[in-house]
Amino acid sequence: MKRYRVAVIGTGYIGVVHIEQLLRLPGLEIAGVADRDMGIARTTAARYGIPRVYDGAEEILQDDSIDVIHNCTPNNLHFEINSRAMEAGKHVFSEKPLALSAAESGQLVQLAEKHDRVTGIGFCYRYYPVLQEAAARIARGDIGTIYNISGSYLQDWLLYATDYSWRLDPQMAGVSNIIGDLGSHWCDLAQFISGLKIEEVMADVRTTLPSRKRPKWGQVLTFSGTADTEYEEVSVELDEYGAMLLRFEGGARGTFTTSQLAAGRKCHIDIQIYGSEGSIAWNHERPAELWMGHRNEANQIFFESPLLQMESTRKYAKLPSGHPMGYMDAMLNLFSDFYTAITLKDAEQEPDYKYPAFRDGHAEMLVLEAALRSKKNGMWSSIQS
Ligand SMILES: NC(=O)c1ccc[n+]([C@@H]2O[C@H](COP(=O)([O-])OP(=O)(O)OC[C@H]3O[C@@H](n4cnc5c(N)ncnc54)[C@H](O)[C@@H]3O)[C@@H](O)[C@H]2O)c1
Repeated sequence: MKRYRVAVIGTGYIGVVHIEQLLRLPGLEIAGVADRDMGIARTTAARYGIPRVYDGAEEILQDDSIDVIHNCTPNNLHFEINSRAMEAGKHVFSEKPLALSAAESGQLVQLAEKHDRVTGIGFCYRYYPVLQEAAARIARGDIGTIYNISGSYLQDWLLYATDYSWRLDPQMAGVSNIIGDLGSHWCDLAQFISGLKIEEVMADVRTTLPSRKRPKWGQVLTFSGTADTEYEEVSVELDEYGAMLLRFEGGARGTFTTSQLAAGRKCHIDIQIYGSEGSIAWNHERPAELWMGHRNEANQIFFESPLLQMESTRKYAKLPSGHPMGYMDAMLNLFSDFYTAITLKDAEQEPDYKYPAFRDGHAEMLVLEAALRSKKNGMWSSIQS
């Protein structure tokens, strides 16, 4: 059986998460890594026994022995690396957001079709076992017609003016910080679990702290923190707060709030879906549990289980009932679906499951651009496909 040779580009926060999960998967080897910072790349390669540190992304793209790349670089490098990798015949797993604009993400979808490559994107939260279960139960009709979808994604790591990241720099992050980042995760979850596409958006987006203090030296890796630092004042235009009213296909209505100035909230994702026959709700702080609400009987908490989940979602609950899985395992599930899709392609077969691909990344870019149009003109904005 073919053993896929994989290279990871960008070995910051999420690059290392990718590496650790790739090491758990059979049928592949991490052949090499690259990072703009050679020191970080070398340390990572040494720690995980990865044989080669490439001089940069370019060298990986030119290496015909690499079958798959994982693009874990900042947003501004996604389009170029993803498109060039597909042109070089590689399958591509990209971090989100897929590109800096919907025009670019649309081109990436077309390139994937043209070169017949398998694509994946880092919408990892779908892969908690009970969220796969929620999607399958809703598709089966368990909660009837969906009326409302509401929720939030809250963090606090940008609360102080001394908090800074490349995510606030439009050159690297693109047209949005929080709506493009946390908003894309939540909107992907809402659409995946409900099975309904977002059709229209009304958005309020704000830069609460328009002036921040940026560390004078070096790059700031995500979630790394800084100490004893000298700062320089910078003005910030990108959002760290956003709220959206949503209209889904079929008429369901939604509300979503996101903020990175919510003290005490580290990675608080909440989603609630209310239908004509019942409800489901999930919160990332208790990710193994699915709340199921009923009108005429007691509510239930369903705990992830390889025995009790529906046949189609059992494979995602990898531990015996009662043992909770976590974020790393959700990533593993995501990569497992992606690599199975590659294996199936080589066998000229199609997957019988849904996994997040470039078309899903493009869908979120369309929602983002609609939200920013709405913010600008103060009106409802349609998703323009
Ligand atoms: N799916 C998720 O849950 C999730 C979580 C975090 C980040 N992300 C996404 O992953 C991407 C990276 O985010 P992060 O948090 O890891 O950032 P980070 O700043 O921690 O790491 C980025 C790394 O990319 C490297 N890099 C920069 N330019 C490069 C180049 N030209 N070639 C090679 N490497 C280069 C940097 O040196 C750094 O090591 C972002 O697009 C982000 O939105 C996704």
